[in-house]
Amino acid sequence: MQLNLLESPKWKDYELLDTGDGLKLERYGPYRFVRPEAQAIWKRAAPESQWRDVHAVFQPTSEESGGHWAARKSMDDKWVMAYEGIKFWAMTTPGRHLGVFPEVAAHWDWYSGLVEKAGRPVKVLNLFGYTGLASLMAARAGAQVTHLDASKKSVTWARENQILSGLEQKPIRWIVDDALAFVEREGRRGVKYDGIILDPPKFGRGPKGEIWEVYESLPDLLKACSAVLSDSPLFVAMTMYAVRASGVHLHQSMAELMKRYKGETDAGELVTRDASAGRYLSHAVYARWQAG
Ligand SMILES: C[S@@+](CC[C@H](N)C(=O)[O-])C[C@H]1O[C@@H](n2cnc3c(N)ncnc32)[C@H](O)[C@@H]1O
Repeated sequence: MQLNLLESPKWKDYELLDTGDGLKLERYGPYRFVRPEAQAIWKRAAPESQWRDVHAVFQPTSEESGGHWAARKSMDDKWVMAYEGIKFWAMTTPGRHLGVFPEVAAHWDWYSGLVEKAGRPVKVLNLFGYTGLASLMAARAGAQVTHLDASKKSVTWARENQILSGLEQKPIRWIVDDALAFVEREGRRGVKYDGIILDPPKFGRGPKGEIWEVYESLPDLLKACSAVLSDSPLFVAMTMYAVRASGVHLHQSMAELMKRYKGETDAGELVTRDASAGRYLSHAVYARWQAG
């Protein structure tokens, strides 16, 4: 098994400027931010003046969650960013994220290409869809998309991104539900998908308080996904931000999920490189499968 490092080199509106001392310095559109980054176990390379010249700094209360943004310079509450012609709103949020996980763009390019080349109608299910960028990419490439997230706020944000990108006419079904409950229900209804995108958090809750704990819930979700795959699936992409996760294990789960189909599984890590010294920062592990 070979593990890959996937980079997303097409970004213009995002840049990882520097990393080190447990922190990362990033540019999101016109603004620069400092956020905690436990993996940055080396010294910073950029000058101190660059680290001070930022718009906001996230001050965590614990390593995993909680904290607040401390403003350093004036900035808009929300602003527009773009990736390859898809536009979206960015803003600082209490969860320390800004409305986009830039390193996932490597997957957007991959499945957009697969959908474009498929030469047939493709139905895609995007679970844990957050602000909808994966759904917009797949829809623009020609897929019929079912986008799901447990948070009504995220789904509203995703729909605003659809309007901002001028993709209102694209067939996207927006759903606020618990991922596992929904996929099990789709299975019972006999609904099938040709592509599945799943980017589960370590911990989360469904709208009715359903508990998502990735190590306990993922096996059930993958079993449910298996039941909704069409006879000729095009792709499955699974990404995990949980620290304890391993690309080796994700590769095994994916290979098992897809064993009745002919295709290829690959796995590895989603990385960005800081502009100051070209050092890799690993964000997540992934496994993905494509027909062939
Ligand atoms: C890590 S983010 C996904 C990142 C996104 N896919 C991207 O690439 O930008 C996790 C998302 O999962 C959602 N979520 C958490 N628990 C859930 C559950 N039980 N069912 C469905 N969605 C859930 C959260 O609301 C959040 O939007």
